[in-house]
Amino acid sequence: MNLFAEDKTAKPFLKWAGGKTKLIADIRKLIPPKIKNSKFTYLEPFVGSGAVLFWVLDSFPNLEKAVINDVNADLINTYRVIASQPKELISLLEIFQKEFHELDDLQEQKQAYYYQKREQYNARKGEKSTQAALFIFLNRTCFNGLYRVNRSNANNVPIGSYKKPTICDKPNLMAVSNALQKVEILCGDYENVLPLAGLNSFFYFDPPYKPLSQTSSFNSYAKDEFNDEEQIRLRDFCAKLNTLGHHWILSNSDVKGKDINDDFFDEIYSEFSIARVKAKRSINANPDKRGELNELLITNYKFNSELSLEFALL
Ligand SMILES: C[S@@+](CC[C@H](N)C(=O)[O-])C[C@H]1O[C@@H](n2cnc3c(N)ncnc32)[C@H](O)[C@@H]1O
Repeated sequence: MNLFAEDKTAKPFLKWAGGKTKLIADIRKLIPPKIKNSKFTYLEPFVGSGAVLFWVLDSFPNLEKAVINDVNADLINTYRVIASQPKELISLLEIFQKEFHELDDLQEQKQAYYYQKREQYNARKGEKSTQAALFIFLNRTCFNGLYRVNRSNANNVPIGSYKKPTICDKPNLMAVSNALQKVEILCGDYENVLPLAGLNSFFYFDPPYKPLSQTSSFNSYAKDEFNDEEQIRLRDFCAKLNTLGHHWILSNSDVKGKDINDDFFDEIYSEFSIARVKAKRSINANPDKRGELNELLITNYKFNSELSLEFALL
């Protein structure tokens, strides 16, 4: 069997808060025919684990190029290493997986191994490939696949309780590496992607969500908070793209689900089209709170009336 079979579909290689796999069916319905029926550039300025990216790469043969970006430098280093040094990365992950699995029921040693790897990662002194391997190792073995850093950008997530987690998914890492060959990978603020937009460009924005409660920690992916002012700066950027003639979809949490009088997004995106869709979130540590929540899909173009009806019914 050829493990490097090129026809294997690339899937996200990380567990990530706000992973968009469940929203893809709705996003698919909203991509304008004008975009998908001709050559286009796909831009995803808040890529995270890239659920939508990998689906787009697999689904649109007309795609000319893709551009991804994230402010998280350790995440972007991991994408770049997968793209350029997949074999080195896989060798390291195979060692980590073997060592971790060998500890099996030896709880104390397993914990010591995890925390030693976390310390090594936080020192950020390793080669790029080592840092990427540590990033994937921590993501696969930590509590709930959480990514959380303190003010000094040190990962502080405790060990998870998985018995033998897959740390090295070699066929998928090779498929991801192949898929990334037509992707430009940027690191920084989302506004940096603009110069890379082509004539027929489509943007998907999945910013850190506006938290639904004070204690909700969905937006702590990076050390800087994405507060209401940041949500408004993003709206201004989207309005600029609209003026430039680009098409976009943006997702966010439907704060109305929590407080019916909260019109924050309805107000700031009043010039655009808003659909409310059901989405399941599974990152909450407390299983009782993993309920169904509405999400918003906002576009800068009108969707057809059939779809408006379908979404309005949800
Ligand atoms: C909701 S997550 C994206 C989830 C992604 N769609 C997925 O499927 O995994 C938001 C991402 O935005 C990134 N981010 C936060 N502030 C940013 C900024 N100013 N510019 C670019 N990326 C940012 C975070 O690092 C995080 O990866």
